[in-house]
Amino acid sequence: MCGIVGYIGHRPAYEILIKGLHRLEYRGYDSAGVAMVGDKGDLNIYKTRGKVEDLERFCHAKDLDGNIGIAHTRWATHGEPNDVNAHPHLSHSGKLALVHNGTIENYNILKEALEQQGCKFKSDTDTEVLVQLIEYIKTTNNCTLIEAVREALKEVIGAYAIAVIDTNEPDTVIAARKSSPLVIGIGEDETFLASDATPIVDYTDKVVYLNDDEIAIIRRGEPLKIITTDNESAEIDIQTLKLSVSQLEKGGFPHFMLKEIYEQPRTIRDCVRGRIGNSGGKVTLSGVIEHSDKFLNAKRIIIVACGTSWHAGLIGKRLIEEATRIPVEVAYASEFRYSNPIVTPDDIVIAISQSGETADTLAAIQLAKEKGAFVYGVCNVVGSSIARATDSGTYIHVGPEIGVASTKAFTGQVTVLIMLAMAIAQIRKTMPKEEITKVAGYLRRLPDLIKQTLKLNDKIEHLSSIYTYVHNFLYLGRGYNYPSALEGALKLKEISYIHAEGYPAAEMKHGPIALIDRELPTVVIAPTDELHEKIISNIQQIKARGGSVIAVVTKGDTSIAEIADHTIEIPDVPECVSPVIVSIPLQLLAYHIAVKKGCNVDMPRNLAKSVTVE
Ligand code: F6R
Repeated sequence: MCGIVGYIGHRPAYEILIKGLHRLEYRGYDSAGVAMVGDKGDLNIYKTRGKVEDLERFCHAKDLDGNIGIAHTRWATHGEPNDVNAHPHLSHSGKLALVHNGTIENYNILKEALEQQGCKFKSDTDTEVLVQLIEYIKTTNNCTLIEAVREALKEVIGAYAIAVIDTNEPDTVIAARKSSPLVIGIGEDETFLASDATPIVDYTDKVVYLNDDEIAIIRRGEPLKIITTDNESAEIDIQTLKLSVSQLEKGGFPHFMLKEIYEQPRTIRDCVRGRIGNSGGKVTLSGVIEHSDKFLNAKRIIIVACGTSWHAGLIGKRLIEEATRIPVEVAYASEFRYSNPIVTPDDIVIAISQSGETADTLAAIQLAKEKGAFVYGVCNVVGSSIARATDSGTYIHVGPEIGVASTKAFTGQVTVLIMLAMAIAQIRKTMPKEEITKVAGYLRRLPDLIKQTLKLNDKIEHLSSIYTYVHNFLYLGRGYNYPSALEGALKLKEISYIHAEGYPAAEMKHGPIALIDRELPTVVIAPTDELHEKIISNIQQIKARGGSVIAVVTKGDTSIAEIADHTIEIPDVPECVSPVIVSIPLQLLAYHIAVKKGCNVDMPRNLAKSVTVE
């Protein structure tokens, strides 16, 4: 949430900052702003409510010179999205500018203390408190910017990634982090910083991930220096990025979401590559092999995640319990962290996160580690905070996901969870080899099966025009596909703003059936499985009450076609693999309805991709 960019070097900073903000816009788009130290040592600061393109319009024909600067795209937490609350924020004297991602929890106390010292505040943000505090310390202690930042951070409770510039030290950018991500890019006589590596990849592949409680001192013409908030010198671990610019572009698709839906044959191929043998059924996950004793002796597994990743976790529970007979619990990370959970060193905690930066999931991991559990991560973003905080893990390797609604990350997570269940079963010898071989065979075929399923696009686009303007939707599924129903409903509501609920199909008669009428369409996920007959009766119950039904069925299923209003036929796959295939038409349905409604599917209102605040 909120994206930060910074630059110091020999090029005009403005272009680099704006391009970087576009890359980070998925993190928030309530307002945007830039500040550059101009060639005359003055501060050029421009900020406005709205998206980065609004900022660009606002900056047109303004003085944009300077080759040092910071920039920000905001997801509002404290204070409404308006021009004044947009970052960068200025200090009282107007000489310091600061951008911030995170939340300062004790900002009220700090603000009152600063007001008593005569500081005047312009915005409603917690961030302005920090820049005022830094200046106050700098003036009162007559110290350098770095000393003032270090002292100020000691006073702060909360999460932050910040970048600060000061016209009195025009060749310096100071950056710091605690619980919010920050990456520094090392170029030739130039340094970049950003909330993730995407704004940096155009210029260099050498990056340093800042750790919690570290402060980076970036000075023109000097090597990067990192100290801790306790003023100890910190190690600089330069890593090489494995990210290409083409992965960050739409590649001819109208939206990132559609591109990412269509990428799934390739992303799933990348996800299983090297993990499933070309023939035979062995599943090889190095994270499991290296810690086989943990998986052999685990008494229980607890999965923690949020949103779509939590839905993948529900599927993971079913998969792992079936394959390994280890009891699995699934918790919302946000609830887990405050529930005084019972966790023991015999437990394994699996944290699932696409971004690897979700604040609640990160806090849940920390709690689990304090209680002695072994923590295994299922992440997408390489080098992310969660990937680094876990004891071991498996990357889903689906490449950058930029559309705010998660699509390819969900199918990647489910695919990794299928492999994880098989890998643990191999160690515990809880599943016949032939069965593992059968599932492994389907995993190898998944890319082709997804490709076949994507051919449904035109049919689903047509279907979407029938349902564009409904106000409510119900999604029903059973077994492995009950979480698919939750995920389908989440996809629709977050990008089309149509209220949608997911339910276990058999639960419908315990309440939601009261909602059924001609105005309420129901998506029923009904592939041919052992509960097929039961779900047919659920469909009949809906039809008897005048509701319309879109049924996702296995190819060739004529029994449902006779009663449903519309059927979407997917390839025949075993139950445990079906959530991957089922999710494709549900993603497409949500996408086309949202596009027809004129919604911005890549940047839905109020949302941000990486939820780094509570
Ligand atoms: C929905 C969506 C969110 C995320 C959730 C967790 O499409 O993307 O619900 O799944 O915010 O994010 P990660 O997986 O990055 O921890």
